[in-house]
Amino acid sequence: MMHEAELLPDPPAGLTMAVEGVPTDPRLLEAADRAARQWLSAEYGSLPPGSAEHARACRAMFRETFNPYRPAVIDWPVLAPEARQRLISLPIWDIAVHTEGKARLRMKAYADTNPDPDWREAVGLNAWEESRHKHVLSRLVEAYGITLAPEPEYKVPRDTEWAYLVTGYSECIDSFFAFGLFALARRSGFFPPELVETFEPVIQEECRHILLFANWLAAHRATLPWWKRPVFEARVVAVWAFLAAERIGLARGMDGPDAAKQDNNFTLTGSQAVADEMDVATLMQLCLEENDRRFAGYDARLRRPTTTPALARTALAVIRTWRGVGRVIRPIFSRG
Ligand SMILES: [Fe+2]
Ligand SMILES: [Fe+2]
Repeated sequence: MMHEAELLPDPPAGLTMAVEGVPTDPRLLEAADRAARQWLSAEYGSLPPGSAEHARACRAMFRETFNPYRPAVIDWPVLAPEARQRLISLPIWDIAVHTEGKARLRMKAYADTNPDPDWREAVGLNAWEESRHKHVLSRLVEAYGITLAPEPEYKVPRDTEWAYLVTGYSECIDSFFAFGLFALARRSGFFPPELVETFEPVIQEECRHILLFANWLAAHRATLPWWKRPVFEARVVAVWAFLAAERIGLARGMDGPDAAKQDNNFTLTGSQAVADEMDVATLMQLCLEENDRRFAGYDARLRRPTTTPALARTALAVIRTWRGVGRVIRPIFSRG
């Protein structure tokens, strides 16, 4: 059994009161949840990445949209036997716990080495929120009797920038699919609504995380000396290649004997489990719509993650063109 004190360290300075003071009052929790979804910067004018105003705005966004929910007081809904069975048989829990554990460590390591106090604070708080996600998962596992494999040892990365890039881009991919998955779970009734609602703040929190990452990336690019840029862009390409290989490799691994246990494509696997008959194009469309909806409340002057939505839009266009061509060609061949 995991104890909260072991997993959830004190929140960063200045947020202790917010975390300890709010969680038991549902009205305040609701207000905090609303505040976590909408935010406008008090900074005047445009916010060019790399400027002091932009860095200040990102730090303020992350601090002011902080949701003080406390994992220990989450009221896990009682599930009917079939719903519980569906939940515990999803092959995602081990990898979800490992992902949060790794993300916490990597973000903390990068935050500690960042010389800018604004980014240090924001990324440090992001790391703390990852440890809270891990704790939420440990509570869920405990509440529904899910059996987990022993956790691997989490190693502090030596190359903290690489580790943060891998974690950030990985979250951009996973969150994009998780947004659609959530909408699906809501619509299809795969999980009872109370359980979906319980997880909702965690999903919105991931939206804030990738918003922060996209802005850090833009600021980092803007402040790098010109002679360091080619190496950095090569690293970004290498990160994407690594993530693609990791996902393809793990997708293949699913056919093996450990198929039911591990899968790093856990948001995709989750989507398949929630709606196994769902058309890929419909799922992509849903992910794109949810992505827009979740980001809509944040200051438009901040950057948004663009690569995963762009890839999804391209995939969608290819699928639709292919189907359109098929609709034209099929009758010609069937006549022949
Ligand atoms: Fe997380
Ligand atoms: Fe995250």
